[in-house]
Parts: sequence; C-alpha cells; structure tokens
Amino acid sequence: MAEPGTEFWLYRVLRKTAGTVAHLLGLGFTVVIGVVSKPGTSLFSWHPFLMALAFSFIMTQAILLFSPESSPILSYSRKIKVRSHWVLQGLTTVCAVLGLAIISYNKYLNDKPHFTSWHGLVGLVTVLYICVQSVGGVSLLYPKLMRKWSLAKLKLYHATSGLVGYLLGCTSLLLGLCSAWFTETVTGISWYLAVCCPVLLALVLMNQITSAYLKKKRMQP
Ligand code: HEM
Repeated sequence: MAEPGTEFWLYRVLRKTAGTVAHLLGLGFTVVIGVVSKPGTSLFSWHPFLMALAFSFIMTQAILLFSPESSPILSYSRKIKVRSHWVLQGLTTVCAVLGLAIISYNKYLNDKPHFTSWHGLVGLVTVLYICVQSVGGVSLLYPKLMRKWSLAKLKLYHATSGLVGYLLGCTSLLLGLCSAWFTETVTGISWYLAVCCPVLLALVLMNQITSAYLKKKRMQP
C-alpha cells in the first residue's frame, strides 16, 4: 500500500498538471478562435473573439489565480489575489457585454431575428448572469452592506454561483462551436479538438472550486 504522503504528492502533481493544462487550453482556445474569426475583418468577427477572450482566457485566469498549485501569482498575498480577481472579473464582464452588444447590433443591421438558437439563448442568460455575479462580488468587497449573511456564507455563495457562471460560459462557448459559421469553417478532427477545450476547462476548474474551496467550507461547523 502507498504511504499517505506519497498519495498526497501524487494528488498535487496531478492537480498541478491539470492546472497547467487549463492555462494552456484557455490561452490556446482564445488564440485559435482569434485566428479563425480574424477580429477586425468584420463586425461579426469581434463576437467570437471577445467571448473567447472573456470566458476562455480572462475568467479562467481569474479563477486559476486562487489555485494552490497553479496560480500565476502563487507567492502573492491573499489581498493581491482578491484584487487581481475582481479586476479580471470586471474585464470579463466588459468583454462579454461588448461581445453581446456587437452580435446583437450585427443581427439588427442584417435584419436577422434575435435569440432564436440555443447558443443565442444560453449566451444571453450567461452574459446577464455574469453581470449579476459581478454585482454580487461587490458585496464581498463591502460585506458590511450585507449584514444578513456572515462573510463565510457570502464567500461560499459567491464561489458556488461563480462556478455556475463559469459552467454557463463554457456551455455558451461549446454551443458557439456548434454554430453553422464555426462548423463550416472548422471541420474534422480540428473541430473535435476545439470542443475538448471548454469541456476540459469546465472539468478542471469545477474540480478546483469544489475540492479546494467548497469541501473545506462544508467541513466547518
Ligand atoms: C461564452 C461565450 C459566448 C456567449 C455568451 C455568446 C452569446 C451569443 C448570443 C447572446 C448570441 C445571439 C445574439 C442575438 O440573437 O441577437 C450569439 C450569436 C452567435 N454567436 Fe455567440 N456567444 C459566445 C461565444 C461564441 C463563440 C465562441 C462563437 C464561435 C465559435 C460564437 C458564434 C456565434 C454565432 C455564429 C452567432 C449567430 C448565430 C446565432 O444566433 O446562433 N459565439 N452569441
């Protein structure tokens, strides 16, 4: 039987590997979407790029920076991590709202109906959710405004609802990859590889939030 210390070491190596994979996938997916959509070549081209930038890169970094194994600012204080988190989350919200405004305006210019696909509907819910989540995050910066709940409870609610927001973002990205525009542009094995990105990102970050945060909170009396 393996020593308990060995198992823990293996667990940390696996989590570090998963975190590194998430960093690479988050950036790689954004670069690929940028290369395929060529932002600037049309109004539409900004939509996939801004959304990938918001959810696959910035929001992934905003969560990974709390990872005890693969945070890019591992040695920095909790205060700096929290500050970087809300700056990145603010940027995510700005990019997401801009991406939504661009696709909606583009559809308006082309006289196309709005929110008719699953991607459009889930995407709209995602952007609205992220806006509400960001406002909720402000309550953590000023916990005195929310006297009804303890700080520990507020943190738990914020982490849980943040996870839901991230999963919604990954689902919208996934549905975007199923759009006629993307499936006509990217085909075969490349399409399947692209699909793996939001799926793996969702799994790795779900594991980070549930094991490193929610479990710990649940054990508290
Ligand atoms: C989390 C990321 C994303 C969100 C929240 C999102 C949101 C939306 C929304 C709300 C619409 C409908 C706008 C309207 O009907 O007025 C839309 C349309 C569209 N999006 Fe995205 N999007 C995301 C990522 C992507 C990606 C990565 C792609 C391409 C790979 C993409 C491709 C499209 C296309 C082709 C349309 C027009 C067709 C349709 O309405 O289904 N989107 N998106």
